[in-house]
Amino acid sequence: MPRTPQMRLGADRELEAGARAHYDDPVYYTATYRRRIDDVQFYVTQASKHGGPVLEYGVGNGRVALPTARHGVSVTGVDLSRPMLDDLRARLADEPPAVQKRVVLREGDMRKVRLKKRFPLVFCPFNAALHMYTREDVEALLARVREHLTPGGELILDLSVPVMQDLLREPTRAYKAPRFRHATTGELVSYQEHFDYDRVRQVLFVSMEFTPVGHPERAWMTPLAHRQFFPQEWEALFHYNGFEVHKLSGDFYGGPLDRTSDVMVWHARVRRGWRPK
Ligand SMILES: C[S@@+](CC[C@H](N)C(=O)[O-])C[C@H]1O[C@@H](n2cnc3c(N)ncnc32)[C@H](O)[C@@H]1O
Repeated sequence: MPRTPQMRLGADRELEAGARAHYDDPVYYTATYRRRIDDVQFYVTQASKHGGPVLEYGVGNGRVALPTARHGVSVTGVDLSRPMLDDLRARLADEPPAVQKRVVLREGDMRKVRLKKRFPLVFCPFNAALHMYTREDVEALLARVREHLTPGGELILDLSVPVMQDLLREPTRAYKAPRFRHATTGELVSYQEHFDYDRVRQVLFVSMEFTPVGHPERAWMTPLAHRQFFPQEWEALFHYNGFEVHKLSGDFYGGPLDRTSDVMVWHARVRRGWRPK
């Protein structure tokens, strides 16, 4: 069916909300991912090995950037979310001046921001690139990466591998989790998720639904939209956008990407002599 302008606008708003809402609450974000540390150690090791400075796309509230700066490497972080950046600024205020000086932040879209500076290392950690919903989005991101990498510099990004069972979930079914105390409100909440996979756009829409116990009238929902990229898509995207992949892992310890992997960790460089057509 041809899409009317109104339908297109609706679809764009759905994606816009799915790229922003989850990051409006940095306290909840921090509490939710506090046990996710393997990737942080990995990125800090990469940064320490290269020495930086690092450009991090989707820096968020500094889960990766802060430990990197504490290890003596300068980080320029770009992010769309003002709440995440404000939270990172508040965290930085508690750091020693040397660490504070190593972090520079820029609010903006990673598809668009031009810093007029080059870096030997560009990171795009923890699924930030799953907010690139179309080929044009990825191409714009990779063009910005090319503009910001020094010759021979390296891009490292990690993405979840689509899990077919997740994509097949019935959209009307609620997936419930045990009650927990919400980090931001301090209230006990019941929690459930709905998953709705759009297999044309290859976008998984997740509705995260919170209901304060005893107060259903105050329930709220946070949307999250993640593009589902199959590994061969990124291989092609890198290839046709001037990158060569020199390493691809299926975990944060350098293990191979195979059919059991749930993450793909790409290391890519700009191909020598490549020019956009
Ligand atoms: C999953 S978080 C990762 C944050 C941080 N790097 C970490 O590992 O915790 C994804 C981040 O990407 C940001 N983001 C999403 N779309 C973006 C865009 N178009 N440009 C810049 N940042 C974006 C979000 O605001 C969010 O902070």
